Amino acid sequence: MSEYQIVDAEDQTVLRDGTIKLHGPEAFEGMRKAGLLAARILDEIAPMVQPGVSTAAIDDKVRELTLDGGAVPATLGYRGYAHSCCISINHVVCHGIPSDKTLKDGDILNIDVTPLLDGWHGDTSRMYFAGEPALKARRLVEVTYECLMIGIEQARPGNHIGDIGYAIQQHAEQHRYGVVREFCGHGLGRLFHDAPEVVHAGRPGTGPEIKPGMFFTIEPMINLGKPPVKVLADGWTAVTRDKSLSAQFEHSIGITETGCEIFTASPAGLDKPPYA
Ligand code: MF3
Ligand code: CO
Ligand code: CO
Repeated sequence: MSEYQIVDAEDQTVLRDGTIKLHGPEAFEGMRKAGLLAARILDEIAPMVQPGVSTAAIDDKVRELTLDGGAVPATLGYRGYAHSCCISINHVVCHGIPSDKTLKDGDILNIDVTPLLDGWHGDTSRMYFAGEPALKARRLVEVTYECLMIGIEQARPGNHIGDIGYAIQQHAEQHRYGVVREFCGHGLGRLFHDAPEVVHAGRPGTGPEIKPGMFFTIEPMINLGKPPVKVLADGWTAVTRDKSLSAQFEHSIGITETGCEIFTASPAGLDKPPYA
């Protein structure tokens, strides 16, 4: 028996038992709907992201759009987290907590949403610009988006999870950026965070073999400086240790016979900034 247990999701209760679930057509349909709602939420908040707006106001809008879409924010009440999204500005790597803090001209920020719709999780994040960020910040955002898409290209049957991380790491390091190791992509579906762990740096051919029916996220966090992060005293906010800027994009995908389906692609084509 292999190190990783792969099971038919239809035969499983919804348990986080370390198994990697293989899903059928109905699950794909559920994820397609949840993913599309998630992407629409990120599309619709884009005009709101401006200098002077508070991250709490953005969070309120995310909650409203999520509820209007017939879903609930999976983060609300998740392990004590009390908000509808995460908003991570500049040197915040991920899990930034919305607050009355306002955006400044030149900020780069990640907004990460996870509507839970009819029992399925759509998890996606994009970078946004408040005003006009410096060229080095815009370059970091561009390359981070490339890292996500290069990782997605590796997500196909026969490859291994490690191939995704390898491709992302190669691309980021070519640009002398640091790949965050402390947080990974993850299986999802009926559960928010499930097996497998999707590393964003690694060696080819390592980790579980990718099979049709797997659902997982790819969500590389790329730093302008060195990889290490620390979590602040609030227990959530992860920042770069060297205070360098950090960027992230995330998609939820499903593995098909020939490659993968991106559940969270923007229906409006607003995949990366600038959105105006
Ligand atoms: N959406 C995040 C992810 O990509 C998880 C956020 S959990 C929270 O996995 F509690 F911090 F919101
Ligand atoms: Co995620
Ligand atoms: Co997310």
